[in-house]
Amino acid sequence: MREYLEIEGGYSLSGEIVVSGAKNAVLPALAATLLAPGRYRFTNWPRLRDLCTMLELLGHLGARVEVRGEVLEVDTSTVEGMEAPYELVRRMRASILVLGPLVARFGRARVAMPGGCPIGKRPVDFHLRGLERLGARITLEHGYILTRADEGLRGAEIVFDFPSVTATENLMMAAVLARGRTEIHNAAREPEVVFLGEMLRAMGARIEGLGTDHLIIHGRNELSPPPAPLSIIPDRIEAGTYLMLPGLIPAEITLVGAEAAHLETPIARLREAGLEIEVEGNRIHARAGGRLRPLRLATAPYPGFPTDLQAQIMALLTRAQGLSFITENLFEKRFQHVFELRRMGADIEVDERTAVIRGPVMLQGAEVEATDLRASACLVLAALSAEGITRIYGLEHLDRGYEGMEKKLRALGARIERKRYEGPASFGPCGPGSGG
Ligand code: EPZ
Repeated sequence: MREYLEIEGGYSLSGEIVVSGAKNAVLPALAATLLAPGRYRFTNWPRLRDLCTMLELLGHLGARVEVRGEVLEVDTSTVEGMEAPYELVRRMRASILVLGPLVARFGRARVAMPGGCPIGKRPVDFHLRGLERLGARITLEHGYILTRADEGLRGAEIVFDFPSVTATENLMMAAVLARGRTEIHNAAREPEVVFLGEMLRAMGARIEGLGTDHLIIHGRNELSPPPAPLSIIPDRIEAGTYLMLPGLIPAEITLVGAEAAHLETPIARLREAGLEIEVEGNRIHARAGGRLRPLRLATAPYPGFPTDLQAQIMALLTRAQGLSFITENLFEKRFQHVFELRRMGADIEVDERTAVIRGPVMLQGAEVEATDLRASACLVLAALSAEGITRIYGLEHLDRGYEGMEKKLRALGARIERKRYEGPASFGPCGPGSGG
């Protein structure tokens, strides 16, 4: 049954939004539970499809998962499996994050090779080359990455051509159990990488340089689960997405439980566009500040403007007075949302890696298809500001990374509802259940 979101645009919004725990922090943290047997506890974890996929993968490897009130408990004492099957990897590329911990703890791992995805080919060569530098032997067979390190891993110097987030995370997790010292140059500095490093430190790892592009990891023989429950850091991409609302529709909102320090660049750019944003501890207030001004921006690794907010700010800039320019530097296909925005009346031209957005345009409601997670959020923002009704299909993407989006928006006054497409009862040989 196909679900879709039905949104009637034009309603002003006001109120508070509680920011959920970060998807891109909880995924590596769950993978890190494979590094040492025992009981791990997490709070402020987000109820997301991707979290469920990672928990299913840990379960497949032999871990036990339980929810006790607000605490998510993972017990990896009985983990013995070393395979991440294609069925799970195809659903979530971040499954590759179990590779480093498995080969570090068990000396072996068999992980399905992730394919491309709607935003790009997404290679994992940095992950594999880094593991080879640490002494692992890697072969690719029948679509699987076979990794062996019978004598264990040993420290090495690793240099990334690009500060890859999950490659940094994977290799940090491998290096904490390697013999000797590992250095990672041109490492990613995202807050989610720092969060993982702090978890590993709480497990007994010795890591220097967290938050910089140069990490030094002194390997230990063994680690143990953090002594206390870990609270997942707030999701800066979810927060940044909602911060854009006052640029699209009359809205006065307050984000609760946000970490403004992780959003410095997006907040600066939104202020430049004309939004009034005030930070008050872990609360961020946002409202419109008059005419929206166009922007020239380019996505970059942290602390630059995040690629994961590129689609969302494009929706916002359709309302700006004049020409805006967005250059996407991380992923070669991350403009799929342009085609759907055009169907809503947006005036956007794409030339290679740069999109030119002419505004202001009053978007019209339409039936649109979300192609990836952040494109889904972009279309929700566009629909909230459009004239009339928008139906957004492809909700499996949205549910991967936004906890209860329609509930959070409805609480602000949005007209948004999740519906099911009820096709005709039956149509000849192709009725439901015919598999036609
Ligand atoms: C992480 O993906 C995030 N996912 C992505 O968020 C995010 O867009 C991306 O970082 C950039 O910030 C998770 O953390 C689970 P990269 P990742 O490796 O690690 C090239 C979302 O919407 N590269 O930093 O896969 C790659 O092609 C998702 O939440 C290699 O060439 O991204 C890209 O051009 C989407 N070889 C660049 O690095 C490699 O081995 C950045 O990719 C790895 C990466």
